[in-house]
Amino acid sequence: MNGLRIDPYERGWMIASGIILAFFLLAVGVSAYHGFTLPGREEHLETSPGGGGARFPEPAVVQRGPGRYDVYMRAQIWAFVPSEIKIPAGSTVTFHVTSADVLHGFLIERTNINLMALPGRVTKTAARFDTPGEYRFFCHEYCGLGHQIMWGKVIVESRS
Ligand code: CUA
Repeated sequence: MNGLRIDPYERGWMIASGIILAFFLLAVGVSAYHGFTLPGREEHLETSPGGGGARFPEPAVVQRGPGRYDVYMRAQIWAFVPSEIKIPAGSTVTFHVTSADVLHGFLIERTNINLMALPGRVTKTAARFDTPGEYRFFCHEYCGLGHQIMWGKVIVESRS
C-alpha cells in the first residue's frame, strides 16, 4: 500500500486539474447545444438551383451613407472579387464574405479582421478605417496551388 501514497501537494493539483477538466467538458457540452455558432450561420446561401436560402449579391462596394460602406466580397481560387476597395478615411466598412469554391481565409493587415470564407455561407464583420494608406488583405487558409497570390488591398484615401 505504501506505493499508492500520494503527496498531499500532488493530490491537490490532481484534484484542481480534475475540476478544470470537468468544467471544460461541461462548457463544450453546453456550447454544443446552446451557444456554438459557425461563422455566418445566420446567412445561408443557395448553393444549388432551388436549394432555398438567399443569393449572394454581385461582388461590389456599396455606399450606404456618409462614411458607411458595405463590401460584398467573393473569395475564389485564387482571387478576391473585388480585389481593390477605395474608401475615404474615417469610413466604416461592413464586409460580407463568401467563397465560390473551397474554404479561404480573409485577413486585413493592421485591422482586427480575420475571417473564414466558406462556400454557402456569409461571414460578416465591420471595421473602421481612420488612417489613410493601403491595407492589404490575404487568404490565410491554404487553398491550393495559387494560394500565395490570393490577395488584394483596401485603399484609404485622405479627406482633403
Ligand atoms: Cu484562398 Cu488560400
